[in-house]
Amino acid sequence: MADKNLDAFKENQEVTVVDASKKLRIGIIGCGWIAGSHMVSYLKQPDVEIVAACDIIPGKAEKFIAKYGLTGVKTDYASHKEMLDDESLALDAVSICTYNRQHAEPAIYALNKGVNVMLEKPFTVTTEEAVEVMKAEKASGKILSIGFQPRLDENMKMIKKIVESGELGQIYYIQTGGGRRRGIPTPFGTTFIEDKTAGLGALGDIGCYSLDMVLNAIGYPKPLTVSGYKSAFFGKDNNYVGYGRHHEYGDLFSVDDFAAAFVRLEGGIILDFRIAWAMNLDTPGDTIILGTKGGLRIPSTECWNGSVGGPMKIYHEVCGQQVETVVPVINKLKDGETLFDRKIRSFCDAVKYNLPAPVPSSQILYNQAIIDGIAKSAAAGCEIQIEIPEI
Ligand SMILES: NC(=O)c1ccc[n+]([C@@H]2O[C@H](COP(=O)([O-])OP(=O)(O)OC[C@H]3O[C@@H](n4cnc5c(N)ncnc54)[C@H](O)[C@@H]3O)[C@@H](O)[C@H]2O)c1
Repeated sequence: MADKNLDAFKENQEVTVVDASKKLRIGIIGCGWIAGSHMVSYLKQPDVEIVAACDIIPGKAEKFIAKYGLTGVKTDYASHKEMLDDESLALDAVSICTYNRQHAEPAIYALNKGVNVMLEKPFTVTTEEAVEVMKAEKASGKILSIGFQPRLDENMKMIKKIVESGELGQIYYIQTGGGRRRGIPTPFGTTFIEDKTAGLGALGDIGCYSLDMVLNAIGYPKPLTVSGYKSAFFGKDNNYVGYGRHHEYGDLFSVDDFAAAFVRLEGGIILDFRIAWAMNLDTPGDTIILGTKGGLRIPSTECWNGSVGGPMKIYHEVCGQQVETVVPVINKLKDGETLFDRKIRSFCDAVKYNLPAPVPSSQILYNQAIIDGIAKSAAAGCEIQIEIPEI
């Protein structure tokens, strides 16, 4: 029979007690696909009250709130401005779940109103927009966290721990990215594939995750130059398999479905990057981090969404022998817990206890600058310097 005292050594024994005596008053801006994931996670928090939601499509916010059986939530707003102007709401924070082209404006408006912001990824479409949001963040003193939930995965944390332990020595080269054979997202329409709403395609949707995976691990060095490439061969094809009966989607497709880049980072580090929503291949390769003492291989997943695809391997030397150490996949999520729950809980804690933003804008600015740099370099057809204005 198992010794009950041994249970004390089991992992995941920590019980987090949430003080629910004061409820955070939360509003949701944009009531589409991802707003549902925010809502599900907020509803699990005992110290959260959803008080308002808005969408520019009339009636959408009302339907969204009804779907979760909530009552007393105000939804009669034509825009984020009307909702944020309603002082009777006394909002503590908003989740901004709008498409990419509508990230900056609502974020700036909310911060100027003194409301904390959980902003979905990618940060923005351009570096200039990100800088404007950060100016508003600085002036407001409020919390702005960017929605990179893969970062809260234990395997992602392990990558950072391995790099920080010095096990790999000095990092000099990184190959990262991911891809899907056929995976252009059009689940609820065309907001992901039209320039007027998305602004960025695979680059902003899943490229930002690949970049965060490695840049967070190595401490987000400043990007200096980039030579980038973008294409859209699959997206623009009306006969693309994933479009099914929506044969007009190819004509509407106006973002990238593939991008690649060669980026120089501060500290002499080279970043070799590629990302694909669609390609004639299963995966464009694993992520590798090369250092002077060891190399790390992080297996990719077939449908790239920012997660570690299997056990990682460290290639190093032990007593003069070439040795491989396998790092097993770690799962420390509690029963029923999701990475989204962690993202929302860590944001709520930051707001309540005035902690640093869980995913700070100061880091994601460099992620954005690379994405924006790839777009600008691709348009120019040559390598460019990455310019990041002062904030
Ligand atoms: N973190 C993740 O795992 C994850 C997953 C999917 C999408 N996302 C991100 O979430 C964002 C939204 O994606 P989605 O799939 O929910 O898109 P969606 O098109 O389903 O929903 C966006 C909604 O925002 C509304 N909207 C746009 N501008 C608005 C404004 N100013 N005020 C109020 N409402 C406004 C639209 O009408 C639409 O209903 C994107 O930036 C995407 O990159 C994140």
